Amino acid sequence: MGQITHELVLEVLDGCGQSALQEASRLGFARLVGPTELTLNSSDLDAVRSLRRVVAASSSLTVPARRPRELLETSVQQRLGELLEDIRRQRPRLRFHGLRLEAAGAHTPDMRRLAAAMADLAGVPVDEEGDLVVRVRRGAPPGTWQVLLRTTPRPLSTRAWRTVDYPGAVNATIAATVLDQLEVGPEDSVLDMTCGSGTFLVEQLHVEAPARAVGVDLDPSAIDAARAHQRAARRKGQVEWVAADVLEAPLEPGFTRLLTNPPWGTLHGEHDSNEQLLADLLRRAAELAAPEARLGVLTHEITRMHRVLEEAASGWRLLREHRFFQKGHHPRLFLLERG
Ligand SMILES: C[S@@+](CC[C@H](N)C(=O)[O-])C[C@H]1O[C@@H](n2cnc3c(N)ncnc32)[C@H](O)[C@@H]1O
Repeated sequence: MGQITHELVLEVLDGCGQSALQEASRLGFARLVGPTELTLNSSDLDAVRSLRRVVAASSSLTVPARRPRELLETSVQQRLGELLEDIRRQRPRLRFHGLRLEAAGAHTPDMRRLAAAMADLAGVPVDEEGDLVVRVRRGAPPGTWQVLLRTTPRPLSTRAWRTVDYPGAVNATIAATVLDQLEVGPEDSVLDMTCGSGTFLVEQLHVEAPARAVGVDLDPSAIDAARAHQRAARRKGQVEWVAADVLEAPLEPGFTRLLTNPPWGTLHGEHDSNEQLLADLLRRAAELAAPEARLGVLTHEITRMHRVLEEAASGWRLLREHRFFQKGHHPRLFLLERG
């Protein structure tokens, strides 16, 4: 643990806030301050680094100031120096290569001077591509400015295990939130019907290994990626990866938790065939499910999913819908229960 209590600002994707709040509350006093932002007081930056529902964590300093120039004052710079030192002291040690200032008016002389001063404190050059990300913005109480120092060179949502760039892979913080909603426990038998690069099951292994875990995908290259990701994650627990059409593969039924993040748009399929696939996946999930099983469908095809739920006697009851928002996309989780 570090010596300083950091006032952290945690960035989350819209839809992950409540899950992130629960997770962050284990580390200290946490509060949701908007749909995409939390605050957390903690001195344990190593633990903050392991947050799985958070996109990025920054240590913040809020100071009474009328303009950013005042952030150059010695007392403020000293305090920022202490925060930076504590950020660098994390174990395993982090290396930053350059400082990137993100602020309205980042190119004004005052902001440039601020960037240079902070880069000096951190012992790295100013660099527009830098990985020590510093944001400067007006603070919440009027008459204050806030400096935010990202605590890691890469966002927390960038997983070290993701060695293969699989098109359509789900964001890992969304996957972690979906798993919270599905409430997967150690006694569960979990099936990801369209596992792609394995994000859900690999994320689940970081929380708890289920009794049985199976990931199926039509595309052998997806299964290769999923295997590589599981290896890189180095977590306890086995996963059976199956390259096959889940609608036909001979799988032993009795799954208590099922998941699917089917193709959307035209990325892996076509809109019309996607609707048929949604209906087929629900029917197949019902065949493979244990009584009282839960099914999570994470899809961008909202209207089509509503139609499928209205038209087909799918064998599934809708418990709730959970919306996410990510860079112009609105994926939605349909949480269903057998019955
Ligand atoms: C949006 S991607 C899933 C991405 C995955 N969640 C990840 O994080 O990598 C949809 C996947 O569904 C697979 N798929 C489509 N039809 C399938 C079927 N009938 N059986 C199994 N997989 C299927 C595609 O090959 C594709 O990998």
